Order: sequence, then structure tokens, then C-alpha cells
Amino acid sequence: ARPVTLATLARMKAAGEPIVMVTAYDFPSAALAEEAGVDVILVGDSAANCVLGYTSTVSIGLDELIVFGAAVRRGAATPLLVVDMPFGSYEASDERAVASAQRIIRETGADAVKLEGAGTSVSRARAIADAGIAVMGHIGLTPQSASALGGLKAQGRTADAAARLLRGAAELEHAGCFSLVIEAVPDPVACAATAASGIPVIGIGAGAATDGQVLVWHDLLGVTDGRVAKFVKRFADVRSETARGLNAYARDVRARTFPGPEHAYAMPAGELERFDA
Ligand code: KIV
Ligand code: NA
Repeated sequence: ARPVTLATLARMKAAGEPIVMVTAYDFPSAALAEEAGVDVILVGDSAANCVLGYTSTVSIGLDELIVFGAAVRRGAATPLLVVDMPFGSYEASDERAVASAQRIIRETGADAVKLEGAGTSVSRARAIADAGIAVMGHIGLTPQSASALGGLKAQGRTADAAARLLRGAAELEHAGCFSLVIEAVPDPVACAATAASGIPVIGIGAGAATDGQVLVWHDLLGVTDGRVAKFVKRFADVRSETARGLNAYARDVRARTFPGPEHAYAMPAGELERFDA
């Protein structure tokens, strides 16, 4: 398959063809996403929660995300690869944002970076785009600023908040973002943002009217259990299959039924006798 480019995504929006985006954090997952024909892979800072066991995405840094990003790139050549700009890597200044984006692109081979928020992030997005780096925006629920937003909860639920979100989306588009993620907002707000945007709008917890959907790998495949957001649908139960396999392995080791003869290395004829002697 031909590599997915920004032009591919723009064409898909124009054609009304839904864009499929998923997170991935390692080599085998990236290869599976590519095989499944996913359009966009996001190395999200959700790796903080999903892979590293932190409770917040603010706990992951540039060095860690770069390790994951490079592994994902080695696993998938066709999907457009986007790597999140982690908390603290872009907020302080446009220069800081460009330097962090350049590191991500150079050290992972990603096609684009993603940052959160409007406000000062509009200027950061413009600086990154002006530096020749493809940049994706992310509005609505932006987990890096969850505390300031009053927790991990839906955004844009009042008319004023919805209007602010739409203004932010327009500003990010004008700043040069090639696409936007819109997270955890009422369907009509995401629908309006999608209709008003000239760039593809990818939803998560934002209804079916957006130009595409994104979900976190561990959420959609049921890798981990525990509470998931209202907008998550479980498409598989990887956790129970993994538990089944691990329990079977432990059982066989304890019963000495693994390894079996089919797993053994033979010695050449005569060598065993010489060894025994
Ligand atoms: O980090 C992440 O997984 C994300 C998606 C939820 C959009 O930013
Ligand atoms: Na993220």
C-alpha cells in the first residue's frame, strides 16, 4: 500500500471517507495496525497510563515518547505516524516547541507531531508548521491540562464553551495544523467543528459525524481492565486471552508437561552414549 500522507487525509475528508486512527506504542502493535489498514497511528502520551502505569499523561517525557515512536515507526511504514508532544515540551515558548518537534521527527521518523489546546498552543502550532513540520491540534478534553479543566470530563457542554472550542479549532487551522483531534465533546459541537473546518477533524468521544475516529489501543482491545471512559467501545478482550495463555503456561510448567519432546534438542548419534560414559 502507498504511504498515507496529509494529502491522503485531505482527500478522504473531501470524499466523506472515514479516517481510522489508533494509538500504538510498540513494534508488534504498529505492524498489526498497518496490517489492519489503519490510516493514522498515534504514539500518544497515553503511553504514560497504558504502558508505564502512571495515573496522568503529564508524567511522560520526550525521551520516553521518542523510544516508543521509533519502535512504532520500525513496525509500520504505510500509516501516517503522529507522535504526541508531551507535557512540558512545548508550552514555554515557540522556540522550545520547534526544538522538541524537531527532536521527535529526527529521532523517530514520525510524519507529524500533535500538541494540546488552543490559546498559546496556537502560536506553538504556527511556529512548528512554519519550521516545516506537520502538526496536528487537539481540543476539547486535553488530558495534559485536566486539572485546569476540572478533571477528565467532557468539554464544550455550554453554548459559550462550545463557541470557544469552535474558535480554537479555527485558530489552529489558520495556524497551519493539518488536522485536529476533538475529544469528549457533545456530538453537535463536534459536528459543527467538522463542518466548519477545512482540515480533517478526528473525534474521540465526539460522535459519528467527525471525519474520522481515534481510540486508545489498550481501551479498544481490552488489554487492561478497570474503568474506561464512556466513549470507549471494547472491540476485543485481549486481557482474558492473555490471562488464559499465562495460566495455561504456569499449569504446564508445574505439571512438567511443558516442555515436551517436540521442544527438545537432539544430540547426534553416539554422542549421548559418549556423554554418559
Ligand atoms: O494520547 C492519546 O492517546 C491521545 C488520543 C486519545 C487522541 O491523545
Ligand atoms: Na495524547
